[in-house]
Amino acid sequence: MTTADVQIAVIGGSGLYSLFGPDENSNEAEKHRIETPYGPTAVTIGELGGRRTAFLTRHGVDHSVAPHLINYRANIWALASLGVRVILSSSAVGGVSPDYPPGTLVLTDQFIDRTHGRADTFYDQGSVQHLAAADPFAPELHDIAVAALNGSDIKPAGTCVVIQGPRFSTRAESLWFRAAGAHTINMTMYPEVPLAAELNIDTVNLSFVTDSDAGLTPQPGEVDEDAVSHSLVLERLAAAQPRIVAAIETIVRAIPADYLPRESIAPDEVRAVLARPIS
Ligand code: ADE
Repeated sequence: MTTADVQIAVIGGSGLYSLFGPDENSNEAEKHRIETPYGPTAVTIGELGGRRTAFLTRHGVDHSVAPHLINYRANIWALASLGVRVILSSSAVGGVSPDYPPGTLVLTDQFIDRTHGRADTFYDQGSVQHLAAADPFAPELHDIAVAALNGSDIKPAGTCVVIQGPRFSTRAESLWFRAAGAHTINMTMYPEVPLAAELNIDTVNLSFVTDSDAGLTPQPGEVDEDAVSHSLVLERLAAAQPRIVAAIETIVRAIPADYLPRESIAPDEVRAVLARPIS
């Protein structure tokens, strides 16, 4: 497959390292290294839900890239350069609210950014742009996903607090995030989502709750079997992979071929970013 005209991309988080089948990571023909002004990245192109789809793994297929070190700008720039208009981002998240227990699928519609020091804009050179971010996930696309998964056991909305990591939260932080209105928690939704919007790509997020973060207070002698650990996240995500990939495919099928993303930024400004020299 060539890299021409790929309109949909899936970004896989912790535990989701393949999308198109078991041979994917050994099939060199579908893997593309893409050079960008921010450095190289890699995407695999295949077919999902009857659509040519680009797949990018945030942490690398061997989970070697920490959340704060992910080259978000290279990843998003690369997808925009392929012609991608829609990103279906998939995430492993912790449950901060008791209403979002482990095993829940969530179509996230808001985030709270608690990261720091990440390169989070394309417009820090040339002309300055201020992205409107009240609805960080495209409402039209979100509604398409909710309708597509209608009847499945999903939460149709949720607020995710994005922490810097790589450590998980203290119990006090987790309770504070819950009091602030967060339902789930993760380390990568920011700045990926606004960077995509800065290049006029719409994002819809499908999260899978792997753990109960640190918010539960076990009684003496009790063990919280859902308390977060890195191995628990990977284990539970791997076990849920068929369900998650099926939901991703259902959403991809439901996105109209002529879907037009929001124009959050003037198209000329986006073209200027995409015309920047490759580093
Ligand atoms: N990803 C999955 N579970 C998480 C948690 N509890 N905190 C931060 N990121 C996570």
